[in-house]
Amino acid sequence: MERTKNTNKNNLKIVSFWFCGKVIDDPNGLSSLWEERMHLRHEIVSCRNLKDLPVFRLFPYSCQYCVYWESTEDFDEKVTKEKAQRLKSDWFRNVSKEFGDCGVIAYLDNESVGYTQYALPKFFPRVQQYASGPPSEDSVFLAYLYIPKRELRGKGIGKYLLDIVLSNLQKRGYGAIETYARKGSESNPAGPLGFYLKKGFFVKRERDEFPLVRKEFGTVMP
Ligand SMILES: CC(C)(COP(=O)(O)OP(=O)(O)OC[C@H]1O[C@@H](n2cnc3c(N)ncnc32)[C@H](O)[C@@H]1OP(=O)(O)O)[C@@H](O)C(=O)NCCC(=O)NCCS
Repeated sequence: MERTKNTNKNNLKIVSFWFCGKVIDDPNGLSSLWEERMHLRHEIVSCRNLKDLPVFRLFPYSCQYCVYWESTEDFDEKVTKEKAQRLKSDWFRNVSKEFGDCGVIAYLDNESVGYTQYALPKFFPRVQQYASGPPSEDSVFLAYLYIPKRELRGKGIGKYLLDIVLSNLQKRGYGAIETYARKGSESNPAGPLGFYLKKGFFVKRERDEFPLVRKEFGTVMP
């Protein structure tokens, strides 16, 4: 895997990874795809690339319209796409001003294939509704981490996105990150417990199937 750094026309920082490896165990038959050189890169979410958040069939779960964490209203089809998109873009505008970078999109050969969103817990009112909560005020909350296409999971894209978030937060002086993981399923809210344990998180509080997990960076909150 080879790493390059550059800047695109919108002046967004880009770090690129060229994947050249073979998939050894490939139940989805994608090995031929991954034997070729796949160009994985990322962009920090801004008003310019918000339209690139992955979209898929299931409204309102589709990333561009999903405002589950940004609101405490009932989460169902009653919210219109227009209202959800407006809420999402208002959220990014306001939180970017106050908190700084708060989202990352992963692109594989220029197709957006993954997405993550994070900020101080106060920016995600839904966190209060979880039995294992609330997240600590000294931490940043990871709200979304999602690789929508199942056939692209297990190939390192989730780890790639999470590592970008961890390094971004460490550079900014934050001391810890927390999220709700899930036991017994790989879906919702931010992904399976096993994934987070592998990435050095520990279970901080567990009241139901959505334990609060935490990773500390060993630095002090600004
Ligand atoms: C969780 C998720 C982001 C992980 O991304 P991914 O690209 O599939 O994971 P990676 O390939 O980067 O895996 C990184 C490591 O975690 C491990 N891992 C991945 N999924 C795992 C699982 N379900 N259980 C245990 N370990 C897991 C991998 O084996 C790998 O370990 P290694 O470093 O020792 O090889 C992805 O599976 C996903 O999007 N799941 C759905 C999450 C969801 O529903 N979110 C709701 C919307 S926010």
